[in-house]
Amino acid sequence: MGGARKVRGGEHYPDGWEMTRPPDWGHNRNAGLGPKQNPEINKAIIIYLLPPLHPLMDGMRSSFDSEDPQSEVIDDAHSQDASTSDLSGSNVVGVIYGDVGTVSFKCSVTAPLEKSEYVQVPHGQSGMVLGQVDQIERKTNLSLERAQRMAEGEDMSIEERVSAVISILGFRDGRGLLQVPGTPFKAGSPVLRAEDKLIRNVIGINENERTGAYIGMLSGHNIKIQLDINSMVQKHVSVLAKTGGGKSYMTGVILEELMKHEVTVLVVDPHGEYNSMRDAGSRVDGAEKFNVTPHGYGSKIREFSPDTKINSQAKPLKFTLANMEAKDLLELTNIKNGRKELTSLKKAIEALRAGRDSYTLSDLMKVLEADEDGSNALIQELEYLNSIEIFADRGTKMSELVVKGKTTILNLRGTPPDIQSLIVNRIATALFELRKINEIPPMLMVVEEAHNYCPQQGVTDSSKIMRTVASEGRKFGLGLIIITQRAAKVDKNVLSQCNTQVILKVTNPNDIKAIVASVEGLSSGMADEIQRLPIGVAIVSGGGVSNPLFVQIRPRETRHGGESVKVIDD
Ligand SMILES: Nc1ncnc2c1ncn2[C@@H]1O[C@H](COP(=O)(O)OP(=O)(O)OP(=O)(O)O)[C@@H](O)[C@H]1O
Ligand SMILES: [Mg+2]
Repeated sequence: MGGARKVRGGEHYPDGWEMTRPPDWGHNRNAGLGPKQNPEINKAIIIYLLPPLHPLMDGMRSSFDSEDPQSEVIDDAHSQDASTSDLSGSNVVGVIYGDVGTVSFKCSVTAPLEKSEYVQVPHGQSGMVLGQVDQIERKTNLSLERAQRMAEGEDMSIEERVSAVISILGFRDGRGLLQVPGTPFKAGSPVLRAEDKLIRNVIGINENERTGAYIGMLSGHNIKIQLDINSMVQKHVSVLAKTGGGKSYMTGVILEELMKHEVTVLVVDPHGEYNSMRDAGSRVDGAEKFNVTPHGYGSKIREFSPDTKINSQAKPLKFTLANMEAKDLLELTNIKNGRKELTSLKKAIEALRAGRDSYTLSDLMKVLEADEDGSNALIQELEYLNSIEIFADRGTKMSELVVKGKTTILNLRGTPPDIQSLIVNRIATALFELRKINEIPPMLMVVEEAHNYCPQQGVTDSSKIMRTVASEGRKFGLGLIIITQRAAKVDKNVLSQCNTQVILKVTNPNDIKAIVASVEGLSSGMADEIQRLPIGVAIVSGGGVSNPLFVQIRPRETRHGGESVKVIDD
C-alpha cells in the first residue's frame, strides 16, 4: 500500500491502512484507483481497464493461445476473475505483484491483514484457491538519517507500502483431493479475505460431535476445531509449551471432552493439578462465543495416590512385593552395582517366598537383620522405601484402578521422583499387557511432565515402557498424551510417535528445534510464531487436518488446578 503521510517527531504514527484501501474495487473494476493513491495497484488495475478486444482480435488471440496452453490458463484466470461474483470490495485485501510462483506469491496489501490469516484467490482452472499469510512487512522510505532528522522535530513525509508473502495452501478437486494449481496466478489478481466455507473445505475441518474433542475455534474465525478421539488413541498426542504456557489448562480441556465422550483415561499427575476438575470453573468473559458453561465432572473422576496423608481425598495406591524381583527392588535404592546386597536380597526373598504368598518390607528387613552377612546400607534403604508406604500385603488391583468410561487420576504429589517412575513403569506395563489381551477397555494414558518419565538423556524405570507404548500402543488401543515443558528433553522416539501436536508458547531455541523436527508442515513463519503465541492460542498440527492451525483454546468448564502460587496476596 502506498500512502504518504506527514508526521512530526514525537507524535504517534497514524495507521496508514485507511488511506490506501481501494474504493469499491471488487464491485466495480472500472472505478480503479487513482495513481496518487497507489501507483503499484494502479499498474495492476490498468490490466482490467483495457477495453474488450475486438471479436476479430479475440479470434486471433485464441488461436495463438491454443498453441500456448500456459498463456491460455492465465488468460482464463482473468476472464474468471472478472465474472466471479464473490469479489465484493469489502473482502479484497490486496493484489498479487512481482514474480509469482506456484508455492507462494507476493501481495501488495490494501486492507488490514495479519500474519497467518487466510486469503483466497480465484484461479482460472482451479477455482478459488486458499492461501495463508506467511510474512508481512511494512516497507517505508524512512532512512536512518531522515528518522534522525524527524526525531529532532523536522516534518517528514513518509511513503510506505505493506507487502505480504502468501503461501498457497491449495483447493479441493472434483474428487475432493487437495491440490495446488499447476500454473502461477497472474500478477494483478485480487487477493480476498478467505470465506469460512473455503477454509473448512480446503483444510479439511469437519465437525463430528460423536468422535470429536472440541478444543476451541480457528483463530479469527467462527470455525469449531475438534481433535478426532479415535486418532488420538491410535496416533498419540503431544502438548508442548514453556512453563506457564497453558499446557495443563489445555490438557484439562482435552480431558473434559474425553470425559464427556466416556473415554477411559488414566492421568499421571505429578503435581496433583487435575483433581480440581471435579469442580465447575467460574464463568469467564467471552465464554458465550465458545458456547461453554461451567461444569464439574465429579462423577467421572477417580483419584488414587501413593501418599494419602498429603492427598487425603484420594484412594491409596499400593503395590505388592510378591511379584517384585530382588534386582528391581535394588534399583529403587541408591545402591548401585551392589553385588553383595543383590545376593543377600535374593536369599531373603527366596526364604520368604518359600513360606508364604505375600510379605511386606518389614518382613524382608527382619530376615536381612537376622543374616550375619546382611548389609546395613541395604536395610537403611529398605527402611526409606518402607516409609513411603507404597508396598503392602495387598496391592491395588488394575480393575479397581481402570474403570470403563471413567478418568483415573494418579496423584503423585509428594512421591519422590524415583518412586514416581517406578509407579509409571508398573502401571503402564500393566495397562499395555492387559490391553493386549483385551482385559481393559481401549484407553488413553495422559503423562504430565513426560520429560521425567521418558527423558532423552539417561534412563528412568519408565523409559522403556513409554517407548513401547509410543511405538506399539496404537495396535492395542492404548493411546498416549504426552505433556512437557521441555520438548528437547523428551525421548525423541516417543515424541516422534505423537502425530497430533498441540503447541503453545515456546521460547527455548532447542525446544523449538525439537518441535520443528517432529511437526510436519510447519512453515518457517509458523516456527517464529511459536515464540510469540499469546496465552490461550495454540498451533495444532495433525489430527486429520493437512496444515497446522492456529486455534483459540476454548475456556474450561472445570476449575483449573495449576494456578501459580503468589508470594504476596494482591
Ligand atoms: N487457554 C487459556 N485461557 C485462559 N487462561 C489460560 C489459558 N491457558 C493458560 N491460562 C492461564 O495461564 C496460567 C498457566 O497455565 P498452565 O497452568 O496451564 O501452564 P503450564 O504450561 O501447565 O505451566 P507449568 O509448566 O508450570 O505446569 C493458568 O493459571 C491460567 O490462568
Ligand atoms: Mg502444568
